This record gives sequence, structure tokens and C-alpha cells, in this order.
Amino acid sequence: MSKHVLAVYFTQSGQTKEILDSFLQPLLAEGVQVDFLEVKTRHQFSFPWSIPVFFDTVPESVDVIPTALEPWSVPRQQYDLVILAWQPWNLSPSIPINSILQDEAFKALIKGTPLVTICGCRNMWINAQEKNKKLLQEAGAQLVGNIALFDRHPNHLSYFTIFHWLGTGRKDRKWGIFPKPGVAQDDIAHAAVFGATVNRFLQAGNWQGLQPELVGQKAVVVKYSLMYIERKAGKIFKKWVAIINKHPQNRKKILVAYKYYLAVALLIASPIILLVDLILVRPFSQRKIRRQMDYYASVEWREKI
Ligand SMILES: Cc1cc2nc3c(=O)[nH]c(=O)nc-3n(C[C@H](O)[C@H](O)[C@H](O)COP(=O)(O)O)c2cc1C
Repeated sequence: MSKHVLAVYFTQSGQTKEILDSFLQPLLAEGVQVDFLEVKTRHQFSFPWSIPVFFDTVPESVDVIPTALEPWSVPRQQYDLVILAWQPWNLSPSIPINSILQDEAFKALIKGTPLVTICGCRNMWINAQEKNKKLLQEAGAQLVGNIALFDRHPNHLSYFTIFHWLGTGRKDRKWGIFPKPGVAQDDIAHAAVFGATVNRFLQAGNWQGLQPELVGQKAVVVKYSLMYIERKAGKIFKKWVAIINKHPQNRKKILVAYKYYLAVALLIASPIILLVDLILVRPFSQRKIRRQMDYYASVEWREKI
């Protein structure tokens, strides 16, 4: 009997859908029935973005506050597997994704259902995936696999190139000299390999061991320096949002200050802090670091790590 999969996605540039389509190829080739659900919000998030509108997403994404969705429906009441193709915004699930994950009808649909997450991001997805894990746990879904595609260029470079892409809508080289932004075309094509792996487990009807196999295939890679930055930044972002919540009338001004803070923290402070950490902390906490990296690469969820 053929298997039924629901592929849920949100995308602005098309990149997330491209990743999803590549991932799904092997499943479709084997006759898996796939229904698509594109998440549509009432409020249209602009693309390309202007800088103030871009930063205006910070409070609601960090606090995981949903926005109203357009009415949606899917052909079946139950699926063998749900694929969630998503993207992080501000180290959190994008607002459209947090909204579908908190939609009561969607929660009922995914309850007790195996679910695989696949993201396309700049390079920081760990913090956001923790928030996804929590929302999925609350919905009673069974997270069985996670795949994270990212921009492999150095953090400093992709910081500039992503703003070029998101600000112009063009996924091309800034000034003709910077590398291309976003997930590389080869990596997008390679998502089909992970699709084939997931399909084997889908056909067997047993999800035991899927995530370790995906980790072995490098479907998800936790990089120490990025994990370190994300762990710190995730907490700091929450503090900024707490200030905004306390002074909502100054939201715009605080977000301008946050914008400058982010650039300085990411481009200037973080390399210095990482160097100090490399010399003074890292050599003495290898076991703890290994444990954290293994946890983030897994589909397990813990409130505190
Ligand atoms: C408002 C906003 C915030 C973002 N924040 C992050 C982030 O925290 N980490 C990251 O790796 N990528 C971040 N990105 C990049 C997205 O995750 C994603 O890769 C990109 O927007 C393309 O997705 P699309 O398929 O919706 O076009 C952000 C993008 C936007 C628009």
C-alpha cells in the first residue's frame, strides 16, 4: 500500500520549496503520495525586505507569537509522515512556521504522527530548532528526523550576502564579487540523498535509527563556533525583546539600537569572545561540548541543556 506524506512549507524566495522538492524526489519516484500545504499568513511578509521591516519581525519571532493564517485544508485526516520545510528568523522559527505549529487544527493533524524537519538557513538553526522541538512536543507530534541545509561560507561573509539577497530579492553575487548567498545549488540537489534515507524508514514503517543515520550522512552538522554564538545570542535576543515588551511605545527606536548591536556583536565581539573561549575554556570542557553538540544534532528535546 502506498504511503501518504504531507509536505508543509513556507517560503519567500522559493529556496525552502526548492529544498523540499529536491528532498521529495526519491519519495515521489517510489510512488509515495505527497500532498502539499503552503503556509499562508493573512499579513503578507514583504520580500524583498526593507531593513526596518526586517528587524520588526524580531519580537514576535523570538517570543514565538503566531500571526493569523489564511484558511487551509488538506485532503486527508491522517498521514504516515509529515515533512516540515522551514526557515529560522532571528534564531527562532519564522513567524509563519510558528503560526502553523500553534494552529489547533494543525496540532490535531500532526498529533501522534512521525514528522521530519528540514530547513534552509544562513547558518544558525539550532536555537530555532529547539523552539520547534518544544512546539512539536506540545502538539504531540513525533519528531523522527532533522535536516539542516545552510550557507557554507564563513559567518562574516554570509552576514553581508544574506542582507544583499533579502534586501534585493536577488540570490546573486553582491557587487559581482561576494559569494552567492543562501544554500548552494549543489547542497539543494544533495537533499535528495536525505530524502532517499527517510523514504527507506518510511517504507519500513519503523523510525528507529533514522536520525543517527542522517547525522552520519551529514544531513545535520553542528559547528562549535556557531553553537557557541547561538547559545549566547539566543539569551541576549530574549533580553532585547523583554525591553521592547516593557516599552512598546519605543519599539522602533529599540529595534534600531538592536540592529547596530547585532552587527557589532556578530562581526566584532564574537570573534574576540570565541578566541578567548578557544584558549581558556574549550580545552577544559571537551566532554561537555561533545554532549551539547550530540544533543543539538539529535531529535531529542530537553527544556534545559
Ligand atoms: C527576518 C529574517 C530573519 C532571519 N534569521 C535567520 C537566522 O536567525 N538564522 C539563519 O540561519 N537564517 C536566518 N534567516 C534566513 C532564512 O532562514 C532563510 O534562509 C531565508 O530567508 C530564505 O528562506 P525562504 O525560503 O523563505 O526564501 C532570516 C531571514 C529572515 C527573512
